Amino acid sequence: MTATGTGYDARFRIWRGDAEGGELRDFTVEVHEGEVVLDIVHRLQATQAADLAVRWNCKAGKCGSCSAEINGRPRLMCMTRMSTFSREETITITPLRAFPVVRDLVTDVSFNYTKAREVPAFVPPQGLAPGEYRMQQVDVDRSQEFRKCIECFLCQDTCHVVRDHEENKAAFAGPRFLMRVAELDMHPLDAAESEGLDRKRTAQEEHGLGYCNITKCCTEVCPEGIKITDNALIPLKERAVDRKYDPLVWLGSKISRRRD
Ligand code: SF4
Ligand code: SF4
Ligand code: FES
Repeated sequence: MTATGTGYDARFRIWRGDAEGGELRDFTVEVHEGEVVLDIVHRLQATQAADLAVRWNCKAGKCGSCSAEINGRPRLMCMTRMSTFSREETITITPLRAFPVVRDLVTDVSFNYTKAREVPAFVPPQGLAPGEYRMQQVDVDRSQEFRKCIECFLCQDTCHVVRDHEENKAAFAGPRFLMRVAELDMHPLDAAESEGLDRKRTAQEEHGLGYCNITKCCTEVCPEGIKITDNALIPLKERAVDRKYDPLVWLGSKISRRRD
């Protein structure tokens, strides 16, 4: 490592390629105090690899677009300080593994938009206009935690249900969208049931809640610190099970089956 003024040279291995294939390439790039991984990627573009593809927008941890895997861990490049790593370490940057590569560090995350569209929206309560809604603070706080999501899809990338199992993608919405189902199911004003929409049932049967075995890997990588597993997935599982074994629901289903 060569020290240059306040900076130093660091070794990087960066995946370069496209949907047809690619490889890790080695680079040595100057690093300065206070920089983040995205700064280094930009310096690399400016000095050695002008055609390196990388997606980013805000450089402030808010747009969710600079997601990548750094030394194998899903992270935001703009929020990963170079001081996290030792100066001797070779830092490996690869595209998100769970999604198809477009080019270099850019992946096609449209799987997530498809899953987002599959979750029915909030159903407004009858007889109340916006502005007349009243909720307890605890319910507001719960929704607000989930609403901190910046849609970086790091949780979607890290979840083992789809990370190495492409075949599960059709049946599994992933933690980000199961969290959305949980948010709506626990929303005190959501009137989905009055419209015949049972969010607990759809969580199990259409969004693959049963695939989740609450490993909490999604929670560990969330840059917003959302407790996805504890506050969304586990409560949703409990609510789905309660409903399944609710004696009134059981009786209702028997009666309706007899009528059929
Ligand atoms: S807790 Fe569930 S959704 Fe989260 S990573 Fe584990 S299996 Fe996937
Ligand atoms: S829940 Fe967290 S990790 Fe998942 S998409 Fe939202 S901000 Fe990213
Ligand atoms: S550039 Fe927006 S989150 Fe990193």
